[in-house]
Amino acid sequence: MAPSRRKALGAYYTAAPVVEFLVRWGLGFGGASVMDPSCGDGRFLVAAARHGARRLVGCDLDAEALRTAGASLPPDAPGAAWHHRDFFLLSPEQTAPVDLIVGNPPFIRYQQFCGESRARALASALRVGARLSRLSASWAPFLLHAMQFLRPGGAMGMVVPAELAQTAYGTETLRALCAGFARVRLLTFRRNWFDGAQQETFLLLAEDRGGATASAELVPLDRIEDLAGFAVSAAGQDGFSLDTARGGRLGLAFVAPAARDLYLRLIDHADVVELCSLGEVANGYVSGANDFFHCTAADGAQRGLPEEWLLPVARNSRSLVGLTFTQGDLACAEARAVPHHLILPRDDDLFAADSVALEAFQRAGKRAGIPARYKCRTRNPWWRVPGLVRADVLLPYMIGSEPHASVNCANALYPNSLHGLRLANPMLAARVVLGLASSLSLLSMELVGRSYGGGILKLEPTEMQRVRLVLPTCGEQQLRMVFELADAALRGGDFNAVVEVADSLILKDQLGLSAEDIDCLSQARSALVERRLTRSRRNRP
Ligand SMILES: C[S@@+](CC[C@H](N)C(=O)[O-])C[C@H]1O[C@@H](n2cnc3c(N)ncnc32)[C@H](O)[C@@H]1O
Repeated sequence: MAPSRRKALGAYYTAAPVVEFLVRWGLGFGGASVMDPSCGDGRFLVAAARHGARRLVGCDLDAEALRTAGASLPPDAPGAAWHHRDFFLLSPEQTAPVDLIVGNPPFIRYQQFCGESRARALASALRVGARLSRLSASWAPFLLHAMQFLRPGGAMGMVVPAELAQTAYGTETLRALCAGFARVRLLTFRRNWFDGAQQETFLLLAEDRGGATASAELVPLDRIEDLAGFAVSAAGQDGFSLDTARGGRLGLAFVAPAARDLYLRLIDHADVVELCSLGEVANGYVSGANDFFHCTAADGAQRGLPEEWLLPVARNSRSLVGLTFTQGDLACAEARAVPHHLILPRDDDLFAADSVALEAFQRAGKRAGIPARYKCRTRNPWWRVPGLVRADVLLPYMIGSEPHASVNCANALYPNSLHGLRLANPMLAARVVLGLASSLSLLSMELVGRSYGGGILKLEPTEMQRVRLVLPTCGEQQLRMVFELADAALRGGDFNAVVEVADSLILKDQLGLSAEDIDCLSQARSALVERRLTRSRRNRP
């Protein structure tokens, strides 16, 4: 299948150990009729036939895959009903209720998941009480539509993206699942296993349709090979239960219980606030052609660009070498030939020399095809980069293992590889930057952010706003001393020393935490960092 069609259909098939596991688990309840609502080449139904299912129902949009599915069934397989159509057009009245639903729903993001199919999908989700937003990807209403085909007491075993527990629409989906099944479990894996997914993938095990439960249980496993000898019936009793009403706390399932309790206790402490209570986090600008719109000051002067067109910029987290971002940092980066100025021509009140420069700039852009680039052709004029915001604090967006914020001493702009925080009280900038360096905030970042295939943690502005921190309340003199110490440590490449300084000032002296408690937070954070980095290494040992 062509990659573009594969992507449009979300046609990434499931690995054999997962198919085998879900079918064995589901048929263990004694049912005999099995449905895969997006069956692809029919691997789940083939396995079900092998394990004694007596009625099979498959649906898929892909005619060729359905032909393969039909041809793959063993000769003695029971009767199968194949539906070649959009699953949302199939109603439960058209098929007798089934005992078991298994499969892997298509993951199509909301941008591509549109039109009548989406309208039908959202309407079906509403029938089981879930009000899904238009930002929902296809897998969510797929699960909710599928559960309506089950007989009372039936079970559903599906591959699901971790978004089920990480996004607002995912949490709404999970809530509706918990309202429709007596028991809901999510098996999680330390090692990524699903090649088609950039994100972490779970296995959803929902039992006893018609019942209800207050929360989903999380069952952490290491890798899919562990499924072979895994007894579901014995697991999950002491699993972490995910309170669907609170959402967004998935990461807590993977830290030691002591750290979990400590963190939950701390976030109720009066000194612990969310970043959004201090100001607003905003995305940076999108130039549309970074090489063209950025230059070094020296290069700009040589090209005769007016000085006032060149605006200082922090380009990305590599620009932020200290807890402050200064003119000196900017000059150092440019000395290494990394442009740190945005070219923003002004066309108001032009001196003659500037209009010559503007024409030359426009000609150069046209020669390089810049006006035709997507971001440039959709703005007017194409050569003026919009969305410029000045921030008091510069924040990371894509996080490796050593995130930190910096006070914006250079009054620099920032592109969308960073975020910026505009504070209600800009005088607090250094306190915020130190606050964000404590183990509590670092752990909070791991909990609110989302990690993708490469192990990078991503925090969108809305997520960054929810990061918890404690503002140091010490006097100005002590603050300056501690801040300078931490800044020097960071510039010397010692991130851990920055965290130690922040922890000592904030968690120990101010909140009165013991060394053991601080260590507990730090270890929990390390465990989460290690977990996402390990998952990025997939199944390698
Ligand atoms: C992730 S694959 C799963 C295939 C198979 N169940 C498996 O796990 O190997 C998703 C399947 O959904 C199908 N699909 C996508 N949109 C669909 C829709 N609206 N209705 C029915 N099937 C759909 C795709 O053609 C693809 O075969």
